[in-house]
Parts: sequence; C-alpha cells; structure tokens
Amino acid sequence: MSKTAILEIDGKKYEFPVIVGTENEVAIDIEKLRGATGAITLDPGYKNSGSCKSEITFLDGEEGILRYRGYSIEDLADKADFLEVAYLLIFGELPNQAQLDKFENDIRKHTLVNEEMKSILEGFPKTAHPMGVLSSLTSALTAFNPKSVNVENEKEMYDAVCKTMGKFLVIATWTYRRRMGFPLNYYDNTKGYVENFMRLMFEIPTQPYKMDQKIVDALDKLFILHADHEQNCSTSTVRIVGSSHAGLFASISAGVSALWGPLHGGANQAVLEMLEEINNNGGDVAKYVLKAKDKDDPFRLMGFGHRVYKNFDPRATIIKKAADDVLDALGVDDPLLDIAKQLEKVALEDEYFKSRNLYPNVDFYSGIIYRAMGIPVEMFTVLFAIGRLPGWIAQWKEMRTNKEPIGRPRQVYTGSPSRSFKEVNQR
Ligand code: SDX
Repeated sequence: MSKTAILEIDGKKYEFPVIVGTENEVAIDIEKLRGATGAITLDPGYKNSGSCKSEITFLDGEEGILRYRGYSIEDLADKADFLEVAYLLIFGELPNQAQLDKFENDIRKHTLVNEEMKSILEGFPKTAHPMGVLSSLTSALTAFNPKSVNVENEKEMYDAVCKTMGKFLVIATWTYRRRMGFPLNYYDNTKGYVENFMRLMFEIPTQPYKMDQKIVDALDKLFILHADHEQNCSTSTVRIVGSSHAGLFASISAGVSALWGPLHGGANQAVLEMLEEINNNGGDVAKYVLKAKDKDDPFRLMGFGHRVYKNFDPRATIIKKAADDVLDALGVDDPLLDIAKQLEKVALEDEYFKSRNLYPNVDFYSGIIYRAMGIPVEMFTVLFAIGRLPGWIAQWKEMRTNKEPIGRPRQVYTGSPSRSFKEVNQR
C-alpha cells in the first residue's frame, strides 16, 4: 500500500499521508488539506470519513465481523458476562476474577441515587417517552455530582465509570416505574447487575420478584451484543459532546437522545410496531415489502439495512437464535416472530433488498425477545442504552485520554451572497 495519496486540484498536485489500521483499513490523513489547498471535503452523514483512531471496536461490514478489543462478538456473547465485557471495553483487557469482583462491588457502592432526583422524575407526565426521561435524568445527575472527572487521574476515572454504570441502570428502570405509577425500587447489592435490572423493573412491594435465570442469561447476552459499535450516531454524539470537555453524564445524556431516533436505536421499538401493524392488517408481508420498495411511500422496513454492514449483522444472527431459544424456554408462541421470519425470507429473496445489501440488523429480532420477557415496547430503546453504556463510556474515555481536539466540522456555504440591510418599510 502506498504511503501517500496524491490529490490534484487546478493542475497542482498535493500529497497526503496514508494511514493503515490494524485490520488493514486504509485512511487518507487530510489534517493539512485546507491549509495546503484551501479546499475541504464534503461527506454528508460521514459515510466515507473517519473521525478518530480507536482501539476499542473493529467491525468489517463486508465480512460481518464484530470484535471488542480483538475478541469476537460470538465468543464474548457465548463465554463472557456483561460486566466482564463492560470492563474489557472500558479498560482494554478482560478482567481476572479479582478485578471483576472488585468492579461489580465498586459499582454497587454507587447505585444509590440522590432522593432529590425523584422530584425531577415526578415532573414528567406519566406518558413521557422513557428515552426522553432517561436523557434528562442522566443530565440531572451532574447536579448531584458537579465535580468534573480528571481523566488523567486513574482512580477518579475508575470511580466515575462505576458511578455511571451504577446510577444509569437505576434511573433507566425508574423511567418505567414512573410510567406505571409503581414505587421506585433500589439496587440489591446481594444480586448481580442484570438480575438487578429485572428486579428494579418488576419487583413490587407486596412480593419478591421471581427471577427466571433464562431471562437473566438472555438479557446478559443482549446487553453484550449492544455494548459498542465503533463510531455509530450515538457514540459519535458522546464523543463530540465530550470533546468540548462537557462532563461524562452530560455526554451520555446526549448519546441517549441520539440513540432514541427510529433510524438508530429507536428502530427496535419501530420494528415491533411495524410487526404489530402487519399482524393487525392480516399478516400480508408481501404488501409491506412492496411499500418498503416504493419510493413514494415513506415506509421503510425497520430493522433492515445498516450504514456499515453490507452483509449480515453478526449480532442479528446471534439474536435470531436467542429469540428461538428464549421463546421456546418461556413457552411463548409469538405470531410476530413468525411474521419477522417471513419478512426476512421475502426481503432476502427480493432484488431490491439484495441489490442494496439490506439485511436484518441488531434491532430486527431484539424486540421480540424483550416482548417475550414482558418488557414494554417503550422500554426497548432504554435497554439498548443500558447495553450501549459501557461503549459510550469507553469511547468518551479514549477521546479524552487521547486529548482529541474539540469536534467542529466545516461546511460548504450555499446561501445568499453579501447583501445590504433593508429597513422594514422597504421590504
Ligand atoms: C442501529 O451505525 C450503527 O452501528 C448503528 C447500530 C449500532 O449498534 O449502533 O448498528 C444500531 O442503528 C441499526 C440500524 C437501525 N435502523 C433501522 O433499522 C431503520 C431502518 N434502516 C434504515 O433507515 C437505513 O438502512 C439505515 C439508516 C440504517 C442506514 O441508512 P444509510 O446507510 O444512510 O442508507 P440509505 O438510507 O442511503 O439507503 C440506501 C438505499 C436507499 O435506496 P436508494 O435511494 O438507493 O434507492 O437503501 C434503501 C434506501 O431507500 N434502504 C431501505 C432501507 N434502508 C435503506 N429501503 C427500505 N427499508 C429499509 N430499511
């Protein structure tokens, strides 16, 4: 591979360095482009632009490969648990047993949320979408933890990680409890992280929550599958907000808002709503595939397509099998799973989807499992956020530790040329 790239503008040649990544990805370093040529690049949606170098996650969209810190998603989903993967993403190595036990216990020290947060929660109408409430509550945590993290101080950074992992899980479940009019639950330090999620969500004061280990195991795997995904929309949001040296809670709050969108993490809720609509309209899958192909119809097949994966999303493969296993284990026969499988089959045989490399993504099957677990559809994207939290933390930490510059893209101005002001009586 050549070490430089040549760009010719107006007959003048310019040379720029070529960077090759661990997995032989090739990038042209244009840090000096505008200074040398006066020109900038234009790349709406950043489809061809790298924002950073990162050591956290690697994915190959053509080969359907996803690795966290070099470990394959298949191995991690099969052999690790969520806190182990969170530790790996954030600190770079799989923890030994002592490190893992300490991490879990240190998270437990931070799961009490200031009681005054409840009055902020109560300020929301019960009908408020949980993602909007979660973003606000996450930002509000700054009010009770005003000291910004000194990222150079290992202990301060570690404590901020544990605090974020602990408090975020609790306030995420409070969004559901508020919506249901249930009393708010507290973390139980005698139970695991994912077990606590189920308890925090569903335990009522009149009887202890009966834990189903199959659900806990499936949820642990789902959180792992959602834990990081390189520079996706919400992670890029966390990095760019953090690049102004805004705090970790404020950056995560912005990431929650970005994830909420139906083109991103909100797709898991949109998939279920789409499957329910198809089911309620007689299950005519072919009709909806036609709608998805019709350029005049805004309908898209939610859970299909991906900016990077132009092959199967490896997470979708794992989740599809988990959906079968969990529904079998729970004795749930969900017609929506049958519709999803029909939809997938029809789409994968259809030229429109094949020619555009549109395959099921991580969101296509996850909602079916959440529904089987009794998770309400408005909470699906909150679960995505809980899974994605360690990735956001890891990426924010990497960006700050690497002292990356504040993110400030350029633009090409296409508005009015200079013009003189007109008094209002002359307009
Ligand atoms: C996530 O980036 C990440 O890593 C995200 C994520 C993560 O872990 O963080 O993986 C999680 O967000 C997964 C994606 C969830 N979103 C959805 O399922 C929503 C439905 N999918 C899309 O809207 C779309 O596929 C995107 C947004 C995911 C990707 O859009 P792109 O890369 O900008 O592609 P595009 O919109 O330019 O589409 C290319 C073509 C277009 O047709 P033509 O103009 O070429 O004729 O494919 C068509 C699109 O109309 N197309 C679809 C489609 N997705 C793309 N047509 C019908 N249904 C779809 N779902």
